[in-house]
Amino acid sequence: FKLTTVEEFEAATEKLLETGKKVGADAWQYRAAKQTPHCKFGEQGVCCRICAMGPCRITPKAPRGICGCDVHGIVGRNYLKFTAGGAATHSDHGREICHTLYCAKPEGPYKVKDPEKLLRIAKEWGVETEGKDIYDLAHEVAYLGLSEYGKVFGTQNFLKRAPQHTQEIWEREEIAPRAIDREVSCSLHMSHMGCSSLPEALIRQSLRAGLSDGWGGSMAGTEFSDVLFGTPKPIETEANLGVMVAENVNIVVHGHDPSLSEMICEYADDPEMIAYAKEMGAKGITVSGVCCTSNEVAMRRGIPMAGNFLQQENVVLTGACEAIVVDVQCIFPALGPLSKCFHTKFVTTSPIAQMPDAEYIRFNAETAGENAKAIVKMAIENFKNRKPELVHIPDMKQKATVGYSVEAIVKTLDGVANSQVDEMGTTKPLLECITSGVIRGAVAMVGCNNPKVRPDTAHIELMKKMIANDIIIIASGCSAQAAAKAGLMDKEAKELCGAGLKRVCELADIPPVLHMGSCVDISRMMILAAELAKDSGLNISQLPVVGCAPEWMSEKAVSIGNYVVATGIDTFLGVDPYVSGSDQIAQLLTEGVRDWVEAAYTVEKDIDKLGDAMIARIEEKRTALGI
Ligand code: SF4
Ligand code: FE2
Repeated sequence: FKLTTVEEFEAATEKLLETGKKVGADAWQYRAAKQTPHCKFGEQGVCCRICAMGPCRITPKAPRGICGCDVHGIVGRNYLKFTAGGAATHSDHGREICHTLYCAKPEGPYKVKDPEKLLRIAKEWGVETEGKDIYDLAHEVAYLGLSEYGKVFGTQNFLKRAPQHTQEIWEREEIAPRAIDREVSCSLHMSHMGCSSLPEALIRQSLRAGLSDGWGGSMAGTEFSDVLFGTPKPIETEANLGVMVAENVNIVVHGHDPSLSEMICEYADDPEMIAYAKEMGAKGITVSGVCCTSNEVAMRRGIPMAGNFLQQENVVLTGACEAIVVDVQCIFPALGPLSKCFHTKFVTTSPIAQMPDAEYIRFNAETAGENAKAIVKMAIENFKNRKPELVHIPDMKQKATVGYSVEAIVKTLDGVANSQVDEMGTTKPLLECITSGVIRGAVAMVGCNNPKVRPDTAHIELMKKMIANDIIIIASGCSAQAAAKAGLMDKEAKELCGAGLKRVCELADIPPVLHMGSCVDISRMMILAAELAKDSGLNISQLPVVGCAPEWMSEKAVSIGNYVVATGIDTFLGVDPYVSGSDQIAQLLTEGVRDWVEAAYTVEKDIDKLGDAMIARIEEKRTALGI
């Protein structure tokens, strides 16, 4: 067993960039070089352009903007706006999923695949289930889910899933999120010119907006995706560009919303479509994915993962991509011009993410079947336009076992349960591993890639370090894909673990890095932490568990960070969220918020030090518990 190294990833990328040069293609590597060094004012968060008297930039000579706002107010407002962008984005994705569930029909393209989960949520929300048709119930629950976005009174329904202590903190600190849309609006209101400039108020609302995402919109996205498409269970797949097949029509799905990618997978598997592909000279159809929509279909269908965020251009550079089909979020506008250098069709599908140089096929829950069929057909018909001299797929892929939803983790870890002491079907076997010290703790590795960090290195190096120290990893998003590409989701990766974690991997038959899904699925991690706390009688903040986003880049990531911290989990970042310009805001985020929510951020750009800090925090928590 051998991991694929980052050097090998980079050599493969180099070769693809050579192809790109032949056709005059641009790439992020060149654009990043042209954009560095970055604007210092922007980097420190001290540039304000929220009114037309500005822009104002804070310097020692000009310590206040024209309105008199100081640097702390400016950095804080920027941070809150950044969070609101992320919360809006995740939550709107969740809303789309609720809407898809609302459109589910027994004979339509969208069905209820996990009725059990639907019943569970209905009961949780006080909906009468007795004698109801499952589709009537789905529509009723979906309507309630949609209502969470604009509920007139009260806070998010899902908050009740948190331990009592956590709920009390949220109430006490006035950060329990109300209607999701309200928290986003309220954040934009507060950060408007002439509203809040008090650091505490801005950061408090950042936490609340984050919570409206994690325990509101993202959780809706995850839960209702499970109802529609099935709750993930362990499944075998593969990762890295080598999953594309030269002889086949290659369709790559990219983005976040599984409503589209599920349908593409469905139709690419249709015998009629496969026959058509053969007629057009291909051997078959291969669907692979990039970013979170890829995680979604990998977790539920075993669809292979072509790569993560900073590999999206590489997919086109293979010259073997007939269509890259995108929904929303994290899609490089570069894909339009890039696909024009090849035969690739760049297909946008959502009114939310429209881009130049794309073919726009508007995707609708009501007409999903026809839309998906049209897209698959377009890809097949494009096969003949390939330029064989440009085709090169790097021979590089790894095996991965994915699909570790909370339900799957609980079930799998029954494999290590001691039937005398542990209750099966709870998190108690996992807790037993942790309290006995066989596993020291857990790290939730999440987030994107960022050219500021050598891509994938931080994810992979940190995971290697953690598992060698008997710390189990749960991963999502592009972090999970980095792990899969390297081979860390191959069960054989147990060889890289300390003796304790290795034993657990053997007994439970799991890899040491567990794929928990997409970015909205970080809500799964919140549920897991909540269950661990309830089953152990501890507070979430006492558990030897931390979160880490070493290569993050998007507004969504900051929203996530805020809800993870506000849930009581210390969070470690490898990239600064544009707050270094204000010592007050930086102090609040890294220390001050601990007084409110029992957790805080650590920002450390040196990845080795970041890893040491996480281990130290986990050990500190163990010592405090006397374990
Ligand atoms: Fe300048 Fe104040 Fe306007 Fe910001 S809000 S641009 S600091 S005048
Ligand atoms: Fe994502």
